[in-house]
Amino acid sequence: MPRIFAVESSCDESSIALLEDEKLIFNLVLSQTDLHSKYGGVVPEIASRRHLEVIPILLNEAVEGYGLDLDRIDAIAVTKGPGLIGALLVGITFAKSLAYVLKKPLIGVNHLIGHIYSLFLTHRDLSPPIVVLLVSGGHTELILMKDHGNFEVLGRTLDDAAGEAFDKVARILNLGYPGGPQIDRISKFGNPKAYRFPRALMDGKNLDFSFSGLKTSVKYFVQKNEHFKVEDVAASFQEAVVDVLIQKSIWACEISGVMKIGVAGGVSANSRLRKRMSELERDGFKVFFPSKDLCIDNAGMIARAALEKYKKGEFEELSLNAIPYLSID
Ligand code: KG4
Ligand code: ZN
Repeated sequence: MPRIFAVESSCDESSIALLEDEKLIFNLVLSQTDLHSKYGGVVPEIASRRHLEVIPILLNEAVEGYGLDLDRIDAIAVTKGPGLIGALLVGITFAKSLAYVLKKPLIGVNHLIGHIYSLFLTHRDLSPPIVVLLVSGGHTELILMKDHGNFEVLGRTLDDAAGEAFDKVARILNLGYPGGPQIDRISKFGNPKAYRFPRALMDGKNLDFSFSGLKTSVKYFVQKNEHFKVEDVAASFQEAVVDVLIQKSIWACEISGVMKIGVAGGVSANSRLRKRMSELERDGFKVFFPSKDLCIDNAGMIARAALEKYKKGEFEELSLNAIPYLSID
């Protein structure tokens, strides 16, 4: 089995990993959240500079702490998009330099497909076809994975991504950045039925998403009402998102005739989504989540996605460039 070294730098996590025999030898992640939180979101220029400082430090840690021997790897994988162009370029330049110096093949990986492969890292016996609900800070998509390397997008968000809605509503409620984990945490103390916020595009088995109306509805609610329990607003908002994600995943299964659902991306860490999705198993669905440490951006998932490309000999030229708006199909 090949040994694949991978780099991820598409947003605000710097990460390197080594995959051997479908298992991670290490998956080092350094999150920049602290650096960006005071700005209420990721500042692209700061992110790029930080990747530049941190990736060599991570490499040093891998060599000293895990005995990484770069001469013994078979390929170098890197996220080529989608993501922030400057941030992507740091990882890509680093990976290309290694590939050139070590004379190893270079594999470019779509970040979204990387998230899908976090499911295969966690569940070694998982196999396609599977319906994937990809919910991150930048993307919300329902994907039919027919086979390795064969993806069809069944629906996507028309405006905000699910994670973005969590982050924006957290800002409205003064909960800090990133908002998803905060809303998840305080919702445990709130009533999800306290307020009825809108669920959009819920007719005709529509598989597209829209979360901007929901966010605006929470904003107006907070502006108009003086007395409310923040926990109730958070829990009711979260319930609206989860209702939509679950119903549309069920429709995607009905339409494609596949009863397996995998949830991936940052929002797949959400505890309410995990609980409610898992309940679908009672209705005959099989539901899969990545382990919590693989929900956030990490190079391990990039290495696992790259393994499929390695098997097919799908390598990149050293002229590889970042593709900030790369789509899945
Ligand atoms: O996949 P990811 O790490 O980065 C992107 O590729 O976008 O996702 C980050 C997003 C953020 O919007 C964050 O608020 C959200 O995932 N998130 C959560 C939770 N943990 C992270 N949303 C809801 N509940 C969580 N527990
Ligand atoms: Zn991501």
